[in-house]
Amino acid sequence: MKKILQLQSELLKEINKYENIVQERDHFIDWERVHISSCAKLGYLLAEKRGFDPVLAACACAVHDYGRIITGKQEGHAEAGYLPVKEFLKRTGLFNQEEIKQISNAVRNHSKKAEVGSTLEEIVKDADLIDFYQYGYEMKRQDQKERLEELLKRESLL
Ligand SMILES: [Fe+2]
Repeated sequence: MKKILQLQSELLKEINKYENIVQERDHFIDWERVHISSCAKLGYLLAEKRGFDPVLAACACAVHDYGRIITGKQEGHAEAGYLPVKEFLKRTGLFNQEEIKQISNAVRNHSKKAEVGSTLEEIVKDADLIDFYQYGYEMKRQDQKERLEELLKRESLL
C-alpha cells in the first residue's frame, strides 16, 4: 500500500479508537476523518509547488491534529500531539528518525500561524488554513486571517 494511504488508514484506526475513549470533544469527530485526508492532499500539492517532498508533506499534514484526536481538546492540541505523534509514527514503521523529527516538529508548531518556520511547517500551516477555508469555516484568530489572506493572494486563489 502507498505510504500516504497506509498512514491515513492507521490514523483512521486511531480515530476510531479514541472516539470511544474520549467522548467529549471540541470538534465533530468526523471532521478529524475528513480533515486528515483533505489536508494531506492540499499539502501534497503545495509541496510540489514549493519544491519539497510531497509524500513527506502529505504525511505531516495528515497527522498534524493528532493531539486533538487523542485528547478531544482544541486548546494546546499542537503541543499535546508532539510526543504521542512521535510514538504513533514509530509504530507505523513507515518513517525514519529524521522524518519523524521533521513531522513531529511540524505538528508541535502548526498553531503558530503568525510565525514562519521550516518549509514543512509552513506547508502544514497553509494546508490547514486552506482546508478550513474550503469547508466554509470563518477564521477566528487574527493570525489565521492574515496568513490565509496572504496565502490566497500568493497562490492566486483570490
Ligand atoms: Fe490543529
